[in-house]
Amino acid sequence: MRKPVTLITGANGEIGHGLIDYFAEQTHQEVVGLDLKPLDKKLRARCSAAIVGDILDENLLQRLVSEYEIHAVYHLAALLSTRAEYTPDTAHRVNVDGTLNLLKLALEQARWHGNPVKFLFPSSIAVYGLPDLAVKRETERIREIDWNFPTTMYGCNKLYCEQLGRYFTLHYRQLSAERVTSGVDFRAIRLPGLISADTLPSGGTSDYASEMIHAGAQGRPYACFVSAEARIPFMAMPDAIKALVVLAAAPVENLTQRVYNITAFSPSAGEIRDRVMAAFPAAEITFEPDAPREAIVNTWPADVDDSPARVDWGWQPDYDIDRAFDEYLIPGISRLYRGAGSETET
Ligand code: NAD
Ligand code: SER
Repeated sequence: MRKPVTLITGANGEIGHGLIDYFAEQTHQEVVGLDLKPLDKKLRARCSAAIVGDILDENLLQRLVSEYEIHAVYHLAALLSTRAEYTPDTAHRVNVDGTLNLLKLALEQARWHGNPVKFLFPSSIAVYGLPDLAVKRETERIREIDWNFPTTMYGCNKLYCEQLGRYFTLHYRQLSAERVTSGVDFRAIRLPGLISADTLPSGGTSDYASEMIHAGAQGRPYACFVSAEARIPFMAMPDAIKALVVLAAAPVENLTQRVYNITAFSPSAGEIRDRVMAAFPAAEITFEPDAPREAIVNTWPADVDDSPARVDWGWQPDYDIDRAFDEYLIPGISRLYRGAGSETET
C-alpha cells in the first residue's frame, strides 16, 4: 500500500521551513520533503521522508511515484531572482523544466489514484516589469493582468510556469479524442518579498529587508544594496504559509482565476531601516545601492491589488507592518541571536 502524502519540493528553503512546521503543528499530515540539500534535522523529524535530490532527476521522481500516493504538491524548489541572473540557463532548467517535471508527476498521480492533485505554486511579484520609476509611482495597486513584462530570467520563468500550470489544469491535450481532465488542480500565488524571523534568505533581490533586520539584531553593520526610496511589497512568513494552505483548501468552484496576487505592507527600504534602528539603536545601516540590483527592484510594483484573493478565498493578512515588526520579527529575530550579546535592552 502506498502512503497518501503531500510532497514539498525545495523543502529545506525558507518557505519549506515554515510550511513543514505548520503541517507538523496544525494538520499532522504526512509530508515528503525533497531538496537538493539535506533537510535540517528538525525538519527531517517532521517529515515522513526527507529526500535529498534534484527535481530535474526524472528517475528520482519516478521512484517517488512508485512509493507514495501524492495528493498535493507544494512546488517550492527554485533558483531565486538574483541567483538566476548569474546562471540563467540553470535557472531556466530548474525553474521551468523542474516545474514541468512536477506537473507531469502530479498528472500521473491523479490518473493513478483517481483524485485531483492540488498543485500549489509560489509565483512572485517578479512577473511584473514596470518600465521606469515614473510609471511605478503612478501605478497604484497593480492587478494580475497588468504589466506582465518581467525583466529577469526568474520573472520570465515564473510567468511561464503560471501559464503552464493553467494549461495542465484547464486545457491539457485539448485536441485528444478521449479528452479527460488532467486531474492537476493548479493554484498559484504571486508572493511579495518574504521576511522570516527564523531563517535568512539567499539569492533573492528582496533579501535586503531580511538582511537589514537580522544584521541589526546581531549588531553587525549592514550596507543595503538598494536606496532608501526603493519600495516593494513585503509579508511576514506566517502570512505566506497561511495563504498557501488557505488557497489549497479553497473550494475549486470559488476560484475565478488560477493565479492570485496577495500583499500585506509596502515599506520603503528607508522605512525598514527606521524600524530596525528603533528596535536595535546600535545597528549600523547604510545605503550603498547596487545599480543593477536596484534596477530590478524598480521594475517590481510598489503595491499589488489582491482583491480577487480576498473575494474568492477570503485572503487577509494577519500581520500589518506594525504587528509584523513588533510581534513577530523583532522579538523572533532577537530570540534567534540572544546569547550573542546583540539584543538591545529596553
Ligand atoms: P529558498 O531559496 O530558501 O528555497 C528554495 C529551495 O529549493 C532551497 O532549499 C534549494 O536547495 C532548493 N532547490 C533549488 N534547486 C533545486 C533542485 N534542482 N532540486 C531540488 N531542490 C532545489 O527559497 P524560498 O524563499 O523558500 O522560496 C520558495 C519558493 O517561493 C520559490 O519558488 C520562490 O521562487 C518562491 N518565492 C519566494 C519569495 C521570497 O521572498 N522568499 C517570494 C516569492 C516567491
Ligand atoms: N523574493 C524573491 C526574490 O527576491 C522574489 O520572488 O527573488
